[in-house]
Amino acid sequence: LQTLPPVRLAQKYFQIFPDERDPLWQNPCHDKRHKDIWSKEKTCDRLPKFLVIGPQKTGTTALHSFLALHPAITSSFPSPVTFEEVQFFSGPNYQRGIDWYMDFFPVPSNVSTDFLFEKSANYFDTEVAPKRAAALLPRAKIISILINPADRAYSWYQHQRAHQDPVALNHTFHEVISAGPSSPAALLSLHRRCLQPGAYSSHLERWLHHYQPSQLLIVDGVQLRSSPAQVMDGIQKFLGVTPYYNYTQALTFDESKGFWCQKLEAGRTRCLGKSKGRKYPEMSLESRVFLSEYYREQNVELLRMLKRLGQPLPIWLRDELHNAS
Ligand code: A3P
Repeated sequence: LQTLPPVRLAQKYFQIFPDERDPLWQNPCHDKRHKDIWSKEKTCDRLPKFLVIGPQKTGTTALHSFLALHPAITSSFPSPVTFEEVQFFSGPNYQRGIDWYMDFFPVPSNVSTDFLFEKSANYFDTEVAPKRAAALLPRAKIISILINPADRAYSWYQHQRAHQDPVALNHTFHEVISAGPSSPAALLSLHRRCLQPGAYSSHLERWLHHYQPSQLLIVDGVQLRSSPAQVMDGIQKFLGVTPYYNYTQALTFDESKGFWCQKLEAGRTRCLGKSKGRKYPEMSLESRVFLSEYYREQNVELLRMLKRLGQPLPIWLRDELHNAS
């Protein structure tokens, strides 16, 4: 029997099996051979039961904060690196492995009733995320929030400006969305990042390739913003989480913030920070018309998909397609 030192052996292995260079993590407890060599000190339960996948700017932080109020639901610990989000399935963190990921979750005190979750808003439109998520969390439930993709793009653009992105500061929203192949590379890149997540039906099809329709819930972000308690009731049912938590009592509308917030004692509230629910001028009619056309096919596909899945149609989607027809 011949062998090599570990590093050279690994190099040799990946020469023979180049496809395996990219890991695809699975739950060690789902395979007896893996479970047998998995350390006795470790558990396989420090993993989320559900994911909030985004996309960005649809109300994901509000949903995260509302979920965290539930006594049986526990969020991942905030990451100091990635703006609080773990962003495991979507980027270089994936290479750090499942021990790294599990460390973001508390050891559940009662495995069957604790609902661990994490929200990373860029999972939604990251090509590899559904495949990776399904490999590790095949039984997880998946929640996505959708608002009109035009409003999402506009909110995202305002977010970039607030973060001093030089390209967003130097170009109007209309210039960003209408950029074409002859535009400078930096503008084109911003254009893509702004508009690509709004291709909702294409992204959702990818998730549905790896998860059953019954595992997916699509939340209307406009409704989440206007009637969060009602939306949270639907989410509790979808998750099958007990005890029932009364969000009507837990949330209150804060007039000065202009949003629903957590109700505290003595008439006080806890709202999301300044970066959520920003004040900015309305989108121009020109841009709205442009984006209605731009997203039309995707929106029609989304309508078909939601009908097929038997999921309720968001009001914004009906309005959008009604106005466009
Ligand atoms: P704007 O700041 O453009 O208004 P995300 O958390 O996914 O980045 O989404 C941010 C958006 O969530 C905000 O976009 C805001 O409109 C929306 N939102 C919905 N409910 C909210 C709430 N209760 N408090 C603050 N923002 C909320």
